[in-house]
Amino acid sequence: MPNVIRSCRPIKGATRSIVDNPSRRSAFLEEIFRGRAVGLGAVHMCLDPSDFGLQRLDPLLELVDREWIEVLLAERDQGVVGLVREQLVEVHDGIVDRSGSQVNKPGPVGNAVPSSMKAVVAPQPDGAEELALVERPVPRTGADEVLIKVAAAGVNRPDILQRRGLYPPPPGAPDILGLEVAGEVVEAGKGAEELLGRKVCALVAGGGYAEYCAAPIGTCLFVPDALSLVEAAAMPETLFTVWVNLFERGFAADGDWVLVHGGTSGIGTMAITLGKLFGLKVIVTCGNDMKCKRAAKLGATAAINYQTKDFVEEVQRLTGGKGVAVVLDMVGGDYVPRNLKALADDGRHVSIAFQRGAKSEIVIPDIMRRRLTLTGSTLRPRPVEFKTMVADEIARTVWPYVEGGRLKPVIDSSFPLSRAAEAHARMEAGEHVGKIVLEVGK
Ligand SMILES: NC(=O)c1ccc[n+]([C@@H]2O[C@H](COP(=O)([O-])OP(=O)(O)OC[C@H]3O[C@@H](n4cnc5c(N)ncnc54)[C@H](OP(=O)(O)O)[C@@H]3O)[C@@H](O)[C@H]2O)c1
Repeated sequence: MPNVIRSCRPIKGATRSIVDNPSRRSAFLEEIFRGRAVGLGAVHMCLDPSDFGLQRLDPLLELVDREWIEVLLAERDQGVVGLVREQLVEVHDGIVDRSGSQVNKPGPVGNAVPSSMKAVVAPQPDGAEELALVERPVPRTGADEVLIKVAAAGVNRPDILQRRGLYPPPPGAPDILGLEVAGEVVEAGKGAEELLGRKVCALVAGGGYAEYCAAPIGTCLFVPDALSLVEAAAMPETLFTVWVNLFERGFAADGDWVLVHGGTSGIGTMAITLGKLFGLKVIVTCGNDMKCKRAAKLGATAAINYQTKDFVEEVQRLTGGKGVAVVLDMVGGDYVPRNLKALADDGRHVSIAFQRGAKSEIVIPDIMRRRLTLTGSTLRPRPVEFKTMVADEIARTVWPYVEGGRLKPVIDSSFPLSRAAEAHARMEAGEHVGKIVLEVGK
């Protein structure tokens, strides 16, 4: 890639006359695609292929449609036109016809990617907690990313926190909500062409509540026939979180007793189903009897209604006074010392949230005497390299169960993208069991 790429300076005024005048337009396009001048060293203003955001079906028309063309006009004498032509070919490698004619081949997927899309953001004007359906440019994919035409996006509790301004996107992540998507790959860079047209689900650091979403190649998993796209969209965030925290940080192993709070949450239902597949005895807590029944039906070894029973006593009773090997805790606050009492010697306490408070009082000698481990993690800000490693592990160890139809997410409900606010309201009401999903294009 030529080393002249920094920024664009659109110069107003010239575009319309070219677009509206067919003879000028074709001469201009001809010039771009025949690409005479080069002289790249002299180019002081800079262009990036992605600045053109060109589309598959007709990069030429798309180019004409964009303000950036004005940059080309202003700089044509300095060789930018030749540069652009080269970059167009590079961006549209295999798509732009290199024969010199202006006929473009359709993209491998056969459907054009528009330049803008609908997306859901939380604008938070003056602290208001609203969701807004807005028009945004379709994201540009970076190296090692694919563009997914989103069919469905999972809703997660962290989205609610983000909407409330309590969980800002990590640096570089879009402000569009949504941490997981499923859909069809419509753009893939060099080396990832085999993903084009494939159905995938992906973990993303943001941008899921939208018609298109850029996702790291490394966090994509193929959607098998056994899963619908709605189900697939409900997998990545909970699967990655449970895998990392229960198995990697908590070292849960075949035959272990584990305690998971929020038994009917997205995380809790994934922990039950995954735990059952991997031979864990999963005890959960829930806020009412109906939820306890649902959790037991899903495969929890025991479900404790924390409103009517002391979960520490119940855990001791169920485990014959031994305690559990791991607690997966999303409650925090005063639950932490109680969780430690529910742990067996050498037990691991893994924090993934702190819904009852960020601070806890713990008795240090107790930790020493019983050799307890306190750990925790938060997935979203972890680097793509880490998430890719987790995806690889999941692809090898868990995905065969998904392909075989033995692991599916529990779907509570789905809403059209335009009704994302209702999806959030349902989650906040706390009556859901399993995952809430947004369907895009409905
Ligand atoms: N660290 C990470 O990487 C990570 C990643 C994803 C999610 N999370 C966290 O994991 C939690 C679950 O996420 P989700 O998307 O599955 O959310 P969710 O479906 O809305 O579940 C939240 C659960 O929390 C339980 N709960 C809330 N307040 C409680 C309290 N005071 N005492 C006991 N239980 C309480 C609820 O259970 P009842 O209704 O039965 O009370 C509910 O099942 C969230 O806190 C989220 O922020 C962390």
